[in-house]
Amino acid sequence: MKQKQTKRKRRWIWALFWMVLAALLAEVYARFVEPNLLVVRRFSFPAQGIAADCRVVFFTDTHFGEDKSVDSAKQLAERINRLEPDLVIFGGDLLDNYARDREQLDLELLRQQLNSIQAPGGKYAVWGNHDWGGGAARIYQEFMKSCGFQVLKNESLFLENYRIQLLGYDDYLTGDLEGQLPTFAEGVFPLLIAHEPYTAQLLSDLPERALMLSGHTHGGQIGIPWIARQILPPGSGGLVRGMYALDESAESARVYVSSGIGTTRLPLRLLSPPEIVCIDLQQPE
Ligand SMILES: [Fe+2]
Repeated sequence: MKQKQTKRKRRWIWALFWMVLAALLAEVYARFVEPNLLVVRRFSFPAQGIAADCRVVFFTDTHFGEDKSVDSAKQLAERINRLEPDLVIFGGDLLDNYARDREQLDLELLRQQLNSIQAPGGKYAVWGNHDWGGGAARIYQEFMKSCGFQVLKNESLFLENYRIQLLGYDDYLTGDLEGQLPTFAEGVFPLLIAHEPYTAQLLSDLPERALMLSGHTHGGQIGIPWIARQILPPGSGGLVRGMYALDESAESARVYVSSGIGTTRLPLRLLSPPEIVCIDLQQPE
C-alpha cells in the first residue's frame, strides 16, 4: 500500500516538473523567438471592378520602441520589396509609445528604411490608436509623409490604373469617425483600410465584395483561441485574425485582420507570429 502511494506521489512530481518545464519553454519561446519571426501570408482576392491585377502588401502594428527595435525595420523593408508590390499599405500603430521611447528611438534610421520600400502604385497609411496616443500625434502624419506614405483620414482616392477606390479611415478609438465619411463609388473595387476591425461594422453602406484591411488585435498576441478572445482590445469587434465575412452571403464584404508585426503591453507572442500580408487582387473570371 505504502509502495503504491510513493509511486503515485512520484508520478505527480514528474507531471508537475514537465508542466513547469513546458511553461518555462513556452515563455522563453514567446519572449525571445516568436516576436522576432516574420512570416508572409499570401492570398488572392477576386476584386470585382478592377482594371488590372494588383499586388497589395499590407503591414501593420509595428509598435517600434522599447520592445521592437527600429533595427528590425531593415528586414521588414527588404521582405516587402522582395514581394514586388504594386501598392503598400500600413495599418497604423507605428510606434508603441513615442513619449516613453523618444530618447532611444532612431527615427532617422526608421525613415530611411520605410523610404526604401518601393511601390509604383503608391504607399498609403492610416492612423492607429498608438499614433494618436503617447504624444505620437505630433509627429505621425509628417513622419509618414517623409517616408513616402500618404496618410488617409476619412479620405478616398481613386487609383485609376487599377480602378480601385482606396478608402482610409481614422482610428475608431481615439480619432474621429463621427464626421463626414467618404462615399462609395460605383463600378470600381472598394479597398478599405481601418486600424480597428470594428470599423467595418459601423459602415452600414459597405458594398458587397469589398475588402477591408485591419490590424489592432495583434491576433491576441497569445494566439491560443480561448485566451486570445479574452484579451482582445476594444475595437476588435470580436475578430482576432485572418479573413472574416461580414455576413453569411457569398457576396459579403470581407475583413482581413492582420496579427501585425510588434507587441504592446506584454513583449510576448505565442502562436501569432509577426506577419506581412501579400494580397493579389485579381479580376474575377
Ligand atoms: Fe497595435
